[in-house]
Amino acid sequence: MNIELSLCGITVRVVLIAVCRGVRLTPQSQQTTTSTFRPAMSTPPVLLTILQEQPTQPPAPPVCADATDVTNPLGRLRSAMKNSIYTQMNTFFDAFLIFYSDEHLSEEPLPSERRLQYISGWDGVGTGAVLADGGAAVWVPAGDVRRARSMLTCAWLVIDADDPRQPNIIEWISERLARSGRVGADARLTSVNEWQYLSKELQHAGLQLVHTPTLVDQLWNEEPDPELRRPDFPKTVAKNYGLEFAGATWREKLNALRHELRNSEADAIIVTALDEVAWLFNVRGRDLPYARLLKAFVVVSQREVRIYVPPGKLSVHVRDALAVFNCNHENCTRISDYANIYSEIRRIPESKVLIPSAGTFQRGASAAIAQSVPPAKRVQVLSPIVYLKAQKNEAEVKGMKKAHLRDAVAMCTLLSYLESKSAQSEMTVERTTDLTRGSQAGYIGPSMQTRVAYGPNAAEPDYRATNSSNRKIFKNGTLVIQSGGQYDEGTTIVTRTVHYGTPSRDERKAYTTVLRSLAAMAMLRIPFLLPAAHIDPVARAPLWEAKQDYPHPTGHGVGAALARKEDPVVIDYRQDTNLHPLKEGYFINAEPGWYEPGKYGVRLGNILEVVSRSNGYLGFHEATLLPFEPKLIDKSMLTEYEIKWLNGYNDRIRKEVGPELKQQELTDVYYWMMNKTVPLELPSKAKKMTGNSADPRGHMTGVLLAVAVTVMHVLSN
Ligand SMILES: *[C@@H]1O[C@H](CO)[C@@H](O)[C@H](O)[C@H]1NC(C)=O
Ligand SMILES: *[C@@H]1O[C@H](CO)[C@@H](O)[C@H](O)[C@H]1NC(C)=O
Ligand SMILES: *[C@@H]1O[C@H](CO)[C@@H](O)[C@H](O)[C@H]1NC(C)=O
Ligand SMILES: *[C@@H]1O[C@H](CO)[C@@H](O)[C@H](O)[C@H]1NC(C)=O
Repeated sequence: MNIELSLCGITVRVVLIAVCRGVRLTPQSQQTTTSTFRPAMSTPPVLLTILQEQPTQPPAPPVCADATDVTNPLGRLRSAMKNSIYTQMNTFFDAFLIFYSDEHLSEEPLPSERRLQYISGWDGVGTGAVLADGGAAVWVPAGDVRRARSMLTCAWLVIDADDPRQPNIIEWISERLARSGRVGADARLTSVNEWQYLSKELQHAGLQLVHTPTLVDQLWNEEPDPELRRPDFPKTVAKNYGLEFAGATWREKLNALRHELRNSEADAIIVTALDEVAWLFNVRGRDLPYARLLKAFVVVSQREVRIYVPPGKLSVHVRDALAVFNCNHENCTRISDYANIYSEIRRIPESKVLIPSAGTFQRGASAAIAQSVPPAKRVQVLSPIVYLKAQKNEAEVKGMKKAHLRDAVAMCTLLSYLESKSAQSEMTVERTTDLTRGSQAGYIGPSMQTRVAYGPNAAEPDYRATNSSNRKIFKNGTLVIQSGGQYDEGTTIVTRTVHYGTPSRDERKAYTTVLRSLAAMAMLRIPFLLPAAHIDPVARAPLWEAKQDYPHPTGHGVGAALARKEDPVVIDYRQDTNLHPLKEGYFINAEPGWYEPGKYGVRLGNILEVVSRSNGYLGFHEATLLPFEPKLIDKSMLTEYEIKWLNGYNDRIRKEVGPELKQQELTDVYYWMMNKTVPLELPSKAKKMTGNSADPRGHMTGVLLAVAVTVMHVLSN
């Protein structure tokens, strides 16, 4: 593959000669973190990127009106970088960095917080850099490169942030700026670590990183083009989350948190992650697209609780529950305006303040939050709420199970409907998926953007259908549906792969291997101290046996009516920093896949509850109860042990989902489900019936006999 990209406006030509190996699996790739910067590292000199500076005889610059347009957001940003009304200081910027996240470093911020999307058009994770004198680039995770290239105009160079052979932000900027230049950025929108790294590295290159909190916001608020105007912040008011779902009062949670604070020798904590705020106070809002969270910061000390929230976001019931009225005693909660957090924590009275550091998915406090606290007071560790929240109590476990039962009904309905329909496309299936979940009681919205991928698109683990990539679904390929729901009681995510024709032998082999991987995890018993990441080889063993691997983690924590992805655990052998063990009451997902570039993909995902087995061992219990596709299962590849697991799982679906389908009067769906959960005959039983002994080699003998018969047949022809 030979991609040639020309960066218009300036005389730099970047020629990328990528070796198309499909899924790239470099040990350096940081797929499990959402951070997009990459420290420079010493890598073997596999020179596949040729950067050609061409001061003499530049090629005729391609026409890129977008790069020189002064009225689009990029052009307006360039003017603002040189305008003291916007920079609010007597200094101009030679470069500007744009982060994708919000002030809580959410992975999927609200449309009104997507500043990178406003400036560049890129709606995913990434970091943008804009030069005042022309040139703009955005760094995106490896799996997003293709989509970003198709979405962004010629004004933007798209760079693979996971590829150590590509220039990182520092290299790219410093190669283009004279020493002593100034780089602006909003420290509210990136983590402490990323900010410190960028600041230090820019300094090495003679450049200064300057915190400029409102430049892009100001531009966006003044945007003249109605299509690009900043969406309104949602007015939806946050509500109490019932004790029947939460299982513990917020005062109980507050006590537990204060106890943890004492253990970490801090007098106060700044809670910045929105799922932690929602968990702590038993409130649910609508301020993120895929989770029911309230946009607020919280400061908890041993004596006080203070919530920084935009005006009008707390219902009367929430205010009542949090005892915000007549706040003249120590047990009440003080409410402040959201924007006051930065100035108030500058003069925080406590002497040691816990500032959440980054976990694997959670990115911790922003640089602006951390740097507002006087340096001597900062204690930077993982928020103790991460652990408290991950271990679900009885009510939460019950809620998760209930949400999964409803979700199973919705997904059975969807899959049986799709099977009877033809001429659908990826995007119509996405819409149908969301609509079908909408029929379930207690459903609030999707827990992720639904992803449907057909044929070669399914071979890209991070694929998301766009108008230009949207494929029609035929009967000769695998279809992967990855989706999830937020319900009153809990959060679900599930992935299934189906096929509407006759699958090929390779497709069945891939599917069965991925299924064996799920079975391996589900059947595992582990000692309670084992780091969750160390389970990964067991889950991947069936794939490794076939010399296959997938570039994403096998699994991660799942929140209860909170975020679908949460710390502290990650199941991923390619990282060695997160060694948190599992605990009873954790919910995790397990989502192996087989990706055959340019051909097909198979992915299956279940949520598992971590349960206690005897003698200090832990095991798993499937929360997801959705049939697999029998025609994609090659029974001859399954061991007796795996068949028993599959039969047990199918039996649970019949017993648990069956009555729910009947109760909702979904008779057709019920029969569809029964047909997909027919028990497989055990090889030993089959042998008994044909009079074979229970010799474990009997199966092998049978195979050899079959081969011999075939050979004889071929020879006799
Ligand atoms: C504050 O709460 C604690 C524990 O719930 C209680 O013992 C104490 O009396 C309360 N103080 C006031 C002023 O209500
Ligand atoms: C995709 O197509 C639909 C219908 O044709 C249209 O409404 C939508 O705006 C398009 N989206 C993009 C990003 O072009
Ligand atoms: C699948 O079927 C469609 C429609 O008949 C056809 O266009 C496509 O090339 C087929 N794909 C493969 C991989 O055979
Ligand atoms: C049951 O499944 C088989 C194949 O697995 C299929 O041929 C048959 O049509 C299905 N029956 C019903 C009623 O869906």
